Amino acid sequence: MSQPSAGGFTFPEGFLWGAATAAHQIEGSPLADGAGPSIWTRFAHTPGMILNGDTGDVACDHYRRWKDDVRLMRELGLQAYRFSVSWSRILPQGTGAINQAGLDFYSQLVDELLANGIEPLLTLYHWDLPAALEDRGGWLNRDSADWFAEYARVMFRALDGRVRKWVTLNEPWVVTDGGYLHGALAPGHRNRYEAPIASHNLMRAHGMAVEAYRAEGRHEIGLVVNIEPKYAASDSSQDQAAVERAHAYMNGQYLDPAVLGSYPEELKVIFGDAWPQWSQADMTLIRQPLDFIGINYYTRSVTEANDSYPLNAGAVRQPLGTYTETGWEVFPQGLVDLLIWARDRYGNIPTYITENGAAFFDPPVAEHNRVRDPLRTDYLHKHLRAVHEAIQAGCDIRGYMVWSLLDNLEWSLGYSKRFGIVHVNYATQQRTPKDSARWYGDVIASHGRSLADPVPG
Ligand code: BGC
Repeated sequence: MSQPSAGGFTFPEGFLWGAATAAHQIEGSPLADGAGPSIWTRFAHTPGMILNGDTGDVACDHYRRWKDDVRLMRELGLQAYRFSVSWSRILPQGTGAINQAGLDFYSQLVDELLANGIEPLLTLYHWDLPAALEDRGGWLNRDSADWFAEYARVMFRALDGRVRKWVTLNEPWVVTDGGYLHGALAPGHRNRYEAPIASHNLMRAHGMAVEAYRAEGRHEIGLVVNIEPKYAASDSSQDQAAVERAHAYMNGQYLDPAVLGSYPEELKVIFGDAWPQWSQADMTLIRQPLDFIGINYYTRSVTEANDSYPLNAGAVRQPLGTYTETGWEVFPQGLVDLLIWARDRYGNIPTYITENGAAFFDPPVAEHNRVRDPLRTDYLHKHLRAVHEAIQAGCDIRGYMVWSLLDNLEWSLGYSKRFGIVHVNYATQQRTPKDSARWYGDVIASHGRSLADPVPG
């Protein structure tokens, strides 16, 4: 694994160190001050959809505690904060009338971040489609691209003077795989014919928003994807072909059209008659010059050919692997491999690691307000060294955001999994920085040099 260069663990000047969250996972008060419901509000209130009947109604109560949370970020030494905007706070019906109170919330948050020297990275869509738009067909409706561009324009006009880094979509793969193919995430559809359409409309929405930004915005805009490198379980031709399918489905499906202007051929094999023929005009719209890409990395997959739907490919558990509480293998080398792959396939586009982190079982808050989470610190340490290795290999990586600042609503797993570097007591809303947060603060203060040190026990 990563060796420091002769100068130790040096990171490029201006490399941004931060943490990430998403609106529905932390804010709570989803219907406050004129906001409309989102598909996640509905999903959570449908029995059986979220573990233990959890909902985002209170979450981390960040909607009311944002000032304290920004103070906490400053105390930890964060330089950047990636958050998302809840579309239905801004446009309760998804389009049309603007809810000023919703805009004010994010405007104040941005002001507070800037006043504390923290750079905001704003994600426009982190999965919480306004429910009113789901009623009009959601991402299956071709008009969804226009709806998204309308919303994006409202945000650009309100905040581009202060926000310099914009993200259109977070992880379109999860939106379609979880929301339209397997149904474990909102809106809970399970339909092989819908998934490609939702994917394509998401990408058209991305393209239209970037186009709108070029007319309205003065800073930078990009797309965030989750990438999971795939390694073949054996060198059999079946497993090799399975890897190609899994890789195209998860890793190529969004960046290929956005950067190269076409979908991977394997998608036709995977979806068969459910894969439509898309027009050249659509592909031209989707392929917009990007100022950066954001990569979310958690794990790898060792893939074999099997009968898993719809890929006929699936992951093989590694007997000697270390796994997180969400069952994901800890594999830092995968981050190096994928960053090099992305550089070679898409050109050396400026890249942020927009999410990376792990859920582990954390002991309760102990004396002196300590939460000992050595496994998380070890995970972050190894992955930051991997980022350094990719930088040394020539990848243009501009920043790193831990997932997540706070323990929060882990979607359909409810509050059962904790990814935060800050512990949240959901009964009292008390925040307690875990040891990993303190450790990360030191890494930031040394601009990465302390990564040369062993992880404290
Ligand atoms: C998402 C986050 C999520 C995290 C851990 C990413 O896919 O963007 O919202 O909490 O992974 O599952």
